[in-house]
Amino acid sequence: MVRPKPWVMEAPIYRPRTYRGIVARLDMNESPNPPPEHVLRAAERELARMNRYPDVEIMEALVEALADYAEVGREEVLPAAGSDMVIRAIFDAYVDRGDGVCFPRYGFAMYSIYSRLTGARPRLLDMSIVGDEFRVREEELEDLGGCRVFFIDRPNNPTGSPLVDAGLLRGMVEEYGETLFVVDEAYYEYYGETLKDLALGHGNVIVTRTLSKAFGLASMRVGYAIAREEALDPLRRALPPFPITRPSAAAAIAALEDRGYVYEHVRQVGQLKSLVYGRVREMGARPYRSRANFLLIEMPVEGVERKLRERGVAVRPTVLGERWIRVTMGTRGEVDLFLNALEEVLGERT
Ligand SMILES: Cc1ncc(COP(=O)(O)O)c(C=O)c1O
Repeated sequence: MVRPKPWVMEAPIYRPRTYRGIVARLDMNESPNPPPEHVLRAAERELARMNRYPDVEIMEALVEALADYAEVGREEVLPAAGSDMVIRAIFDAYVDRGDGVCFPRYGFAMYSIYSRLTGARPRLLDMSIVGDEFRVREEELEDLGGCRVFFIDRPNNPTGSPLVDAGLLRGMVEEYGETLFVVDEAYYEYYGETLKDLALGHGNVIVTRTLSKAFGLASMRVGYAIAREEALDPLRRALPPFPITRPSAAAAIAALEDRGYVYEHVRQVGQLKSLVYGRVREMGARPYRSRANFLLIEMPVEGVERKLRERGVAVRPTVLGERWIRVTMGTRGEVDLFLNALEEVLGERT
């Protein structure tokens, strides 16, 4: 047998979950709303051309739509198949075997998985709870000398916290010119704060974003990077030739024009977060403040995720431990199913 790289065989496989028996799918931080009709139509029109590779024109139109939305120049934006693929390209272009890669201890799973696939040395930055938010401990940020790349998801998945103040990050970017700072803004639309100006002002910063969340296009796999041209150039080289399909590009272009849809979705998510925050507290659980489309909740007992699943409600177990769940703001109906099931599960303990 041909021997693969040993560190590849030690990396975990990302296994999507099954939804057999699930009626409320609140574990993937997706938008619960189907896409607007005109987005569907745009994708359908391109399906009829699936015999052709995506051409330059459609990709240019996508870049233009993204640049317009992000209010950056066309050369400062680079799309790929989900922000996952952008992150993967960052590893391919910037990280060597043995390099230090730094990221929050509880953060988006792919920083760790890609580090291991690359044979890099992950350094997990400890976090602490301040009030009802999480932060990266300041002492963890005192020496970033060993970090070739520093990833921060802002807001962070699974806590929903921004983790590090923008001012502190700005200082770090100035001080560590040899470190690439990747600010993962997958939940930007819910938070409203961006560090894109930092990326446009410094060659060692890349912002990543996605249309999988607030734009409701998770299956279409469209994400993008915002950075200076010199920081994007290595990523362009690392990406495969046709990372985005024609239907995906067309859906993304149509969705990017419809800002009202996103605005309304973000408003709904905000309302549901307040509702769930209040109700779970009444039930004796501890929710944390979240700037994204989900809530991290500390339960008074273990095993809640499994018991909810048995009742048809999928929430996410988290690396914080057995008592913690992450729940996505789905439709009002799904959220009610979650709250009712949780009441039952927590009521059972007495
Ligand atoms: C912080 C963060 N970054 C990136 C992603 C990946 O998004 P995409 O669908 O664009 O690959 C996710 C998805 O959950 C996420 O939570």
